Amino acid sequence: MPTADVVPDSSGTPASGVESQHDEWYKPSAGVIERAYIKDWEALARTADADFVGFWEERAKELIDWHEPWTTVLDDTDKPFFKWFVGAKTNIVYNAIDRHLKTHRRNKLALIWEGESGEQRSFSYHALNREVSKFASVLKALGVKKGDRVTIYMGRIPELPIAMLACAKIGAVHSVVYGGFSTEALHDRIEDSQSRIVVTCDGAFLNGKVVELKRIADEAIRRAPIVEHVVVVKRTGLEVPMEEGRDMWWHELMSLPIADWRCATEILDAEDPLYMLYTSGTTGKPKAIVHTHGGYQVGVATTLKYVFDLKDDDRWWCAADPGWVTGHSYIVYGPLILGATSFMYEGAPTYPYPDRWWAMVERYGINVLYTAPTAIRGLMRFGEAWPNRRDLSSLRLLGSVGEPINPEAWRWYFKNIGKERCPIMDTWWQTETGMLMITPLPCVNLKPGSGTRPFFGQQADIYDEQGHPVKDGEEGFLVLKRPWPAMLRTIYGDPDRYVEQYWSKFPGVYLTGDSAKRDKDGYYWIIGRVDDVIKVSGYRLGTAEVESALVSHPAVAEAAVIGLPHELKGQAIHAFVLLRHDYTASPELAEELRQHVGSEMGPIAKPEDVKFVDQLPKTRSGKIMRRVLKARAQGLPEGDISTLEE
Ligand code: WT7
Repeated sequence: MPTADVVPDSSGTPASGVESQHDEWYKPSAGVIERAYIKDWEALARTADADFVGFWEERAKELIDWHEPWTTVLDDTDKPFFKWFVGAKTNIVYNAIDRHLKTHRRNKLALIWEGESGEQRSFSYHALNREVSKFASVLKALGVKKGDRVTIYMGRIPELPIAMLACAKIGAVHSVVYGGFSTEALHDRIEDSQSRIVVTCDGAFLNGKVVELKRIADEAIRRAPIVEHVVVVKRTGLEVPMEEGRDMWWHELMSLPIADWRCATEILDAEDPLYMLYTSGTTGKPKAIVHTHGGYQVGVATTLKYVFDLKDDDRWWCAADPGWVTGHSYIVYGPLILGATSFMYEGAPTYPYPDRWWAMVERYGINVLYTAPTAIRGLMRFGEAWPNRRDLSSLRLLGSVGEPINPEAWRWYFKNIGKERCPIMDTWWQTETGMLMITPLPCVNLKPGSGTRPFFGQQADIYDEQGHPVKDGEEGFLVLKRPWPAMLRTIYGDPDRYVEQYWSKFPGVYLTGDSAKRDKDGYYWIIGRVDDVIKVSGYRLGTAEVESALVSHPAVAEAAVIGLPHELKGQAIHAFVLLRHDYTASPELAEELRQHVGSEMGPIAKPEDVKFVDQLPKTRSGKIMRRVLKARAQGLPEGDISTLEE
């Protein structure tokens, strides 16, 4: 036996196919359990299950400071519009920054950043507070008030979390749009949120090239006249037009007297909105998920502490983009609330060489690394010589999120990055859940590809079409049966859609949109989305949004897109296009359509291929049957096609 801290255990009966996968156990060593914050999953799970409201109340006292306490922990009188910590006064920024300034953490590093070209910047809690407070004062001077929405569209630079925290500090609601999105996607999100202020940068460095964010923002704003001011960070030095009276440089504003570093943190109600974040759903335009100050901070701090076992002197690296919920919860808010040091990297994992990530783990002594299966698969293909050249001994725990991790990638990550010492936390959650929901803890026995069991206080289940729980091993709809503090509160501006999408198929339980199985050990295995959501490299895209980008091209009469398995990306987008009469199919046109989707929505949404068809399979009521397209493309049986139009 190797002296591994996590011991591969082959005592399960080897069988073939899926079953053998379900019996591959990895047990944490005594050493791992010894160090872990929670050493006994079963005991705490029982307590939390018996009184989940009490469990969360304890965590709220343990990890968070409040200006005034709550009168009710969970108010479910108006469900599914649940409220948490009702009556409490708080601000997440108080917990993420202000309170640390009075402790030994004042001079501790809050954020370490490395640019793609190798430059470094770091901020102590004190320094971060100054930047955040100054920008909060600038926002106020620009007329931003409590409840106003601010769109943030940037590359991965420190000004992005600074802008988020500045909004939260004054009670404004940030709406971060991923920097990989393009014109139409950005326009839709500015328009829907009615943001009068946009914060962006001249450009972003990625893979040695410059992405022209300001130019894209200008085009989006031209279509969204609501915007009054654009604050621009100079990152790349790219020549960009600045519109008189509308556009202002970040560095100029921050050097004016209005950028006062003495800026009070607004005391808010626990249920006041903190941010909105757009994500794709079943139909139509993307919707904005709304999260609040009070419950959210309790949820993210608890999960980060219990699952990733974050210690005061840890260096934590969540390698996601701050533009997605993972970044919101686990680059920005979670680690800062716990007073940890969060590392952020600007660029591509393979720039200039495929050991860039491993070099940074070594350089900064990263203790816990949290990333996505697609990144692992991407780095895996360059072979283990790259990580082997680096000292990864600082790593203690690893994490995975965004899509199911295939056991091969799991084993590679475990062996070559974690050196068989570091348990992998495969965390299942969603933009909507705000925090980890189905996840191991370091003390839990692992099976590659399973997120194990629901987090403390939560109950999950798997239902059939009629809402009956299925038997273990059978596939069905994954549902969550109890409210949790970081849960979404609504869809911005569309409460009916919130009820309809999440709480209507099976009354009383939350519909995740995923299909899953539970095995005989109670472990959950996520299969994938059951709606029209495609996960490309872990990024969630709606078929409707990609289709509408295609149809906005003059050649396209109708379009349908589906996701098909892809070795690196998990899923890739495949488009089926019906041309208008005066257009002829050609490889050039297919390429033009791919580029068109790229410039309207963003490079991640570019279809892998575009096929021209004479007809799309539809129901008699005119709904495109993507399921049929998918089956045909994979040469699988078409299933029930009784509703298919003649
Ligand atoms: C969807 C949510 C939550 C952070 C990033 C994604 C899929 C997420 C896992 C996992 C299998 C996963 C689900 C989910 N997903 N984590 N560990 N194993 N699938 O947030 O963009 O809102 O996507 O991602 O399908 O519904 P998101």
